[in-house]
Amino acid sequence: MKKGWKWLSLTLLVTIFAVFMAACSQTTGGGSGSVDVGIVLPTKDEPRWVQDEQRFKEALADSDYTTEILFSQGSSAKEKENVETLLNKGIKVLIICPHDGDAAAAAVEAAKKDGVTVISYDRLITNTDAVDYYVTFDSVAVGAAQGQYLVDNVSGSDVPLYLYAGAASDNNAFLFFEGAWNVLQPKIADGTFKVANSSEAEALKDKAMLSRDEMSKILGQVTTNWDPNEAINKAQTHLTAVGADLKGDVAVLAPNDGTARSIADVFASDGDVSSYIVTGQDAEKASIQYVIDGKQSMTVFKDVRTLVTDAMGMAVSILDGDTPETTGSYNNGSVDVNAKQTDVIVVNQENVQKELIDSGYYEASEFEGL
Ligand code: GAL
Repeated sequence: MKKGWKWLSLTLLVTIFAVFMAACSQTTGGGSGSVDVGIVLPTKDEPRWVQDEQRFKEALADSDYTTEILFSQGSSAKEKENVETLLNKGIKVLIICPHDGDAAAAAVEAAKKDGVTVISYDRLITNTDAVDYYVTFDSVAVGAAQGQYLVDNVSGSDVPLYLYAGAASDNNAFLFFEGAWNVLQPKIADGTFKVANSSEAEALKDKAMLSRDEMSKILGQVTTNWDPNEAINKAQTHLTAVGADLKGDVAVLAPNDGTARSIADVFASDGDVSSYIVTGQDAEKASIQYVIDGKQSMTVFKDVRTLVTDAMGMAVSILDGDTPETTGSYNNGSVDVNAKQTDVIVVNQENVQKELIDSGYYEASEFEGL
């Protein structure tokens, strides 16, 4: 009898323990708040996004809220999986930079169904109403700054102009191109530049404002897909295809630093190119070294600290039950998304010390020849 009781109490204990464990795993897995803010970034393969992760970690060091950062490694399927993982951890706010703006709609629609507030980060998620807010840099201004740099640093006429662009799956690629076109088009039309590598751009050279479809046609010829290797291949192909009249002193619109370094290397190794001006953006460390060394002409510095502060500021307002502050809106093809936008800074050899070292963004010791 005594033995029986002992056995029974043991069984009872085991059962209670099992029920307790099941309840616990439901708490973490079933959405009752182990992570407050989920952050999904596109890829670790580009220094730009590793920089964002780093800046998030610095900003979150003494946050009262719990966060988790996941990378999608250039895959919309992985991105959706990441969002589902975070939903299972009970997030209330999702900060997401989509790999592909259209394809990310499914992931954020799942988040909205769970009552999560969605903040599109740097890149806009398009053609869905499941986006609540957008934090971004002024991307049209990025492209305009790139175009203006080329205009300001060439002389004469018929300067060969090589155009490159980002991935068509990224809404920003259109904004950058639009900004650059606004500045470059009048100078192509008046004969300052001669487009060297896009028959579509050449055909549209008298049009000040391009439709999205028209830009798509140009991007179809000159996209890098944000991939440095694709940029190398395209640049090589273009330089092989042109005659000597489209070499000499040339201007190159490169959309970001990763592709700028690749394209710069190709142009530098062509004996018939006597000089090149090449743009960039992101102020990646490797490109800052290129700027110092005179291998990349400029970069557009987008202070990721500000973007992170804005995104987390919004998330905290939402968690606190307040309405985040916004400064305007972007139409994503389905709805107007309230947005907070940050300015950008043009950096070249002259102000690199002031903007990137004196500002505390990077350490002088990370570079040579400053
Ligand atoms: C853009 C982003 C840029 C650049 C590019 C490639 O959307 O705004 O900073 O990094 O993607 O990842």
